Amino acid sequence: MADTLLRLANDRRTARLVRLLGLPTPVLLERASGGWQAQELAGRTFVCAGGPHARLLADAGAALRAAGARVTESGQPPDAGQPLHGLVFDASGLRDVADLRQLHDFFQPLLRPLARNARVVLLGEAPELRADPVAAAVARSLEGFLRSLAKELGRRGSVANLIQVATPPGADLLLALSGPLQFLCSARCTYVDGQLMRIGHPLADTRSPAGSRRLAGHVALVTGAARGIGAATAARLAEEGARVLCLDIPADRDALYETAARVGGVPFAADVAEAATPQRLVEFVRAKFGGLDIVVHNAGITRDKTLANMPGHWWDQVLAINLRAILLIDAALLDAQLLRRGGRIVCLSSMGGIAGNYGQTSYATSKAALIGYVAAQAPRLAPLGITANAVAPGFIETRMTAAMPFLPREAGRRMSSLAQGGQPRDVAELITFLASPAAGAVSGNTIRVCGQGWLGA
Ligand code: NAI
Repeated sequence: MADTLLRLANDRRTARLVRLLGLPTPVLLERASGGWQAQELAGRTFVCAGGPHARLLADAGAALRAAGARVTESGQPPDAGQPLHGLVFDASGLRDVADLRQLHDFFQPLLRPLARNARVVLLGEAPELRADPVAAAVARSLEGFLRSLAKELGRRGSVANLIQVATPPGADLLLALSGPLQFLCSARCTYVDGQLMRIGHPLADTRSPAGSRRLAGHVALVTGAARGIGAATAARLAEEGARVLCLDIPADRDALYETAARVGGVPFAADVAEAATPQRLVEFVRAKFGGLDIVVHNAGITRDKTLANMPGHWWDQVLAINLRAILLIDAALLDAQLLRRGGRIVCLSSMGGIAGNYGQTSYATSKAALIGYVAAQAPRLAPLGITANAVAPGFIETRMTAAMPFLPREAGRRMSSLAQGGQPRDVAELITFLASPAAGAVSGNTIRVCGQGWLGA
């Protein structure tokens, strides 16, 4: 659905009026098109720095340069007239309250020269790695700093995120860090804002094939692929070279076949909540592909009513589709050993599952459960080289949100740091990153794609 305010605020003839009326003035967001490029960050300038004892800085600089970025480590902005596209600060060495002053001293002079649509990444250590309570408190303080900074940057269309390293020194950090940092610094990270991405030990198969088409030779299952976020995800995975098995309900067969044809994939008409579906899927995947590399559990429904008014069968429907089907399909695929080494599971959770929503007890129950599910699966699947993560969209412009009444829809759009809704492709970008070899050190995470939505922030 068209976002009229976004259009008016970015049209020279009406921008002044929008400002005079005191309305929010969302910035046009930069979005990458096509597949991931080997030199994805070419032409972008980043200033990188770290305090004393920073242990990630050298790897961060190497990761950015490997993706084609110009990196200056002097802490100085580029020469006048040269755009500054991003900032990366390694705060892993901060241990004491006095050390926190380094955050101010690095960022404060560089925020004004920062271009619109900039990317800011803060690197830190997981607080639980630190035995000393003061050092642990300092590690945790980065989250508050980052989330506030992201709110200040959003009005310029810029995003800021935190990578938290949960491995002790000595692990292969370059391998673990490169993919997440390159993604968060790219024009694919348009609507992921104010988020924390935790990275652990890189699993075996984390090296991306050189160049583009990072998923060449991979097979991906996307449920609910006929439209919306599912269709965008199928298209994005196919762009990276994956063969996509597109699943949706038989009643949506026309849209499903259209999506599958568009992405060069294979349609599979089935209701995920049907008792026979997991076994049918197992047999189809075994016969057609011999195995799977990526599973995106995107199919989901809402049946909203306050709990006092909610019929039992509505509750059951939501829990059956949004939760039980996912658990049963994964169990069937894992039992049949069809999810290959290096495999990726991505579940679509929701902001509702984090913050709760009026009239959405069933939906929020199902979506919160998925957060617990991926956290529990991550360590269990690590020995198989498989990761499990969840993506929690905020307000995304799809049929689901177009159907909302005007006022809640406008509120949903504007109540975020970026003051606008996200596009299905923004969610698809994060899912595709998590599905890629580059995300081998990211598991058990739930990452919001919400433009730093204020609900549950
Ligand atoms: P959508 O309603 O546009 O598309 C969902 C697709 O899932 C449809 O094609 C539908 O036919 C399919 N589906 C529903 N029940 C199914 C079943 N039993 N078996 C197989 N397929 C089934 O939804 P949208 O907006 O693209 O959402 C995708 C996912 O993202 C959902 O899980 C939703 O809960 C989640 N989400 C979406 C948000 C948004 O703002 N659009 C916000 C937060 C979460």
